[in-house]
Parts: sequence; structure tokens; C-alpha cells
Amino acid sequence: MFMNKFDLDSRTAIVTGGAQGFGLAMTRRFLNSGARVIIWDLDKIAIEETIKKINNPKLSSKIIDVTNFDQVNTEVENLIKNTKIDIFINNAGIAGKNTTVSDYPIDEWKKVLELNLNAVFYCLKAITPHMVKNNYGRIVNIASIAGKEGNPNASAYSASKAGVIGLTKSLGKELANKNIAVNTVTPAAAKTRIFDQMTKEHIDYMLSKIPRNRFILVDELASLVTWLVSEENSYTTGAVFDLSGGRATY
Ligand SMILES: NC(=O)c1ccc[n+]([C@@H]2O[C@H](COP(=O)([O-])OP(=O)(O)OC[C@H]3O[C@@H](n4cnc5c(N)ncnc54)[C@H](O)[C@@H]3O)[C@@H](O)[C@H]2O)c1
Repeated sequence: MFMNKFDLDSRTAIVTGGAQGFGLAMTRRFLNSGARVIIWDLDKIAIEETIKKINNPKLSSKIIDVTNFDQVNTEVENLIKNTKIDIFINNAGIAGKNTTVSDYPIDEWKKVLELNLNAVFYCLKAITPHMVKNNYGRIVNIASIAGKEGNPNASAYSASKAGVIGLTKSLGKELANKNIAVNTVTPAAAKTRIFDQMTKEHIDYMLSKIPRNRFILVDELASLVTWLVSEENSYTTGAVFDLSGGRATY
């Protein structure tokens, strides 16, 4: 479903959680637009399958746990010795348990916040000095409509994604005097592996809230994000782009 051609020639992108789902769709679209892509993911089997299936010398991968700041920072330091990182996508995320706030297990809350929000901060902390030095960068953080609307029985997830929106707005302003764009997107639900972590009631609830009456396709997200990470996006920063099929009310 690749239609418009974006120019990412000579750009290098890192996509966290790029082995499947939204991350894989963005990886494909970036490659298709001429970029070199490095996937950071924890799932060794999914990475191997993806590398084999895509079979493109411009694609590489590394097993990285983005919740480990030292691992992230060391890898950035290694990479920038001979690579310029132009694009960074904070995409790795989990749904967490579907239950009420009063029943939400504290360990589960911390796990969701650690990956969905803190790890985004760790990656941004590691990569932004490099982009500032180059005076070039295009960053997209994948949030969720849950971060704007707040889904019941998904408090940790909704709170973590609201945090990503705030972090994006803050960093966007910090770097606005450089040629660096920091934006976020708020997709509605897509049928990816993340659905395995949710109850059927929760999935039905999400669908019932989408005026388009269908889930977003992963390629539909990749399409908007590819424009956001292109050089042509020279003005928009610190912004939240809706991909909620009409659900968002602001
Ligand atoms: N699918 C949806 O309905 C939906 C809707 C809105 C937002 N999102 C967001 O989109 C992003 C991608 O979701 P998806 O649906 O493609 O999920 P997915 O489960 O298909 O993919 C997530 C990827 O992240 C990787 N990952 C998990 N923990 C990691 C870690 N610590 N370090 C590195 N990689 C790790 C997983 O191995 C997996 O490959 C998430 O941030 C999610 O919250 C998803």
C-alpha cells in the first residue's frame, strides 16, 4: 500500500520495537523511501524472521532492551562513531493489564510506565545530543488515542501515553531552534500482537469508539510517520497528530 514517494535517501533511522506491528510497517516504508533502518527489539525470533523476509542490505538489527538506559546509551555511542542517525522512532510498547485502578497491580503499573514512558525518555536522552551536534533530526514518538481520551481499565497505558504526549511537547520546544522535529502520533487500535495482551471486552470497547468503525491499518500509521520524519517536515514540531479514525475530540 505504498502510494506517495517520500525521500529518505541517505538517511538512517532507528525504530524501537521494529520487529513487528507498527514498527515493522514503518521499517518497510522507510526502506521503501530509501533510508537505512536499524531495528532495536527484544524479540530475537521476530527480528530474525523480519530480517529474512525483508532481505534488504539497508536493514540491520540489534537486540536492545530500551528500558535499560546504559544499553541504549552505549549502543548510541558505538553507532555514532561512524553513522549519522537522522531519524528516531520510539515505538516499543506494551498494553499492560486490563483492570480497574483499584485492582491494578503496582508491579504491572511500573512495568508499563517503564517501557511506554521512561524508555522513551532514556532513548531521547541518549540520541538528542547527537542530533543537536548535527543540527538535524526527525523524531516520532508513538503514543495512543488512549493518552488523550483515557480508556477505562487501561489506566497505566493511558497515563503512559499521556506522558509521551507531554514529553514530546516539551522536547519539541527545547529543540525548536534547531533543524530537529519532535512529534507524536495518537493512533486508534490496530490488529497487531499487542491485542493478545487485551481482553475481548477491551478490544470491543475500542472499536465501538472509532467513528470509522474499523481498526487502523499499520500502513496507515507508517504513511503519516514517514512524512513526519522526512526533511520536508521542516516546521511542525512538538505536535500531536491524530490517527484515531475520528475518535479524538481535541
Ligand atoms: N496496536 C494498537 O492497537 C496500538 C494502538 C495505539 C498505539 N499503539 C502503540 O504502538 C506501538 C507499537 O505497538 P504494536 O501494536 O506494533 O505492538 P507489538 O506488540 O506488535 O510490537 C511491539 C514491539 O516492541 C518490542 N518490545 C517490547 N518491549 C521491548 C523492550 N523493552 N525493548 C525493545 N523492544 C521491545 C516487542 O518485542 C515488539 O516487537 C506501542 O507503543 C503501542 O503502545 C498500538
